[in-house]
Amino acid sequence: MEQVVLELKNLQTTFQSGKTAVPAVDGVSLHVRKGEVLGIVGESGCGKSVTSLSIMQLIPSPPGKIAGGEILYKGEDIAKAKAKRMKRLRGKEISMIFQEPMTSLNPLFTIGNQLIEAIRNHNKISKKEARAKAIQLVRDVGIPRAEEIIHEYPHQLSGGMRQRIMIAMAMSCDPEVLIADEPTTALDVTIQAQILDLMKSLNEQKGMAILLITHDLGVVADICHRVVVMYAGQVVEEGTVRTILKQPKHPYTQGLIRSLPKLTERKQQLYSIPGTVPQPGAIEQGCRFAERCEFAFEACFQKNPALLELEDGHACRCLLYEGGNEDAG
Ligand SMILES: Nc1ncnc2c1ncn2[C@@H]1O[C@H](COP(=O)(O)OP(=O)(O)OP(=O)(O)O)[C@@H](O)[C@H]1O
Ligand code: SF4
Ligand SMILES: [Mg+2]
Repeated sequence: MEQVVLELKNLQTTFQSGKTAVPAVDGVSLHVRKGEVLGIVGESGCGKSVTSLSIMQLIPSPPGKIAGGEILYKGEDIAKAKAKRMKRLRGKEISMIFQEPMTSLNPLFTIGNQLIEAIRNHNKISKKEARAKAIQLVRDVGIPRAEEIIHEYPHQLSGGMRQRIMIAMAMSCDPEVLIADEPTTALDVTIQAQILDLMKSLNEQKGMAILLITHDLGVVADICHRVVVMYAGQVVEEGTVRTILKQPKHPYTQGLIRSLPKLTERKQQLYSIPGTVPQPGAIEQGCRFAERCEFAFEACFQKNPALLELEDGHACRCLLYEGGNEDAG
């Protein structure tokens, strides 16, 4: 098996609110291997972006803080890395595509300047070679007229194009790990497919490990190898794509799958899980999904379920599988 490049162990990220440190990410453990695409899914507010920003040490602080756990990049705990080390890691070793496209583009410089600078920061190549590489990257993300586009400024491009330039920036230094936070949500379907293909080929050809955050289980089925399902700041299920999509065990994952439209059924009423994700810190006792769970029983409101491995690589956080009845399976 390939080497684990990035591993989170019991990550805790909190936001200070008055006197309370509210846990937005509450004990998350996960790992991604070289050549692997790991999907992170879960409803809005469950802590996906906070997890990825924590890895990059980009949590706004204050009020945010990595309050506990480890973030191991090739064995080095980068949760404790100094600013200088992080600056070298970002871009060169670990790149991120942000949910908000303008976050990583500077409005004052042309697209070409920014790409060339990013490429030359991490590679000892001439300006001419870097320029050629920049043009190729712009083409790779499906933008026509690449030679002209590199002379333009971010505000001259459409939102979708900016998103693609940002993807080109993130890919410009062949990072070992690419973290992509909803990279294609704002794009139309054709461009989305193009970008996913591009990510897939980088993953296959260069062995780039990818952490892909998405709402879209269709995207997961298309490019991920394994999936982590998050709920209210915790991992509630983890397994291979096949297991998660075909044999989900956690009632929340089952709800997510049920809410997917099926191509084979023409007329259908889409299922949606009742209720909403609780605010971080709102539930002090019991399973965080209990209020919304159709299988909830008494113990669910009292006991915190642990994330238990059911079989090789398939783990689930639910009392039904802690020696209880297994109706939900
Ligand atoms: N800067 C911040 N200050 C205070 N709370 C924050 C901050 N950023 C995030 N949070 C809280 O952390 C929790 C997790 O947010 P996060 O952005 O990780 O959700 P998400 O899973 O990425 O959702 P989405 O799918 O909408 O992007 C939320 O409850 C959010 O309100
Ligand atoms: S522990 Fe109980 S409430 Fe939580 S998901 Fe399992 S059955 Fe539902
Ligand atoms: Mg997010």
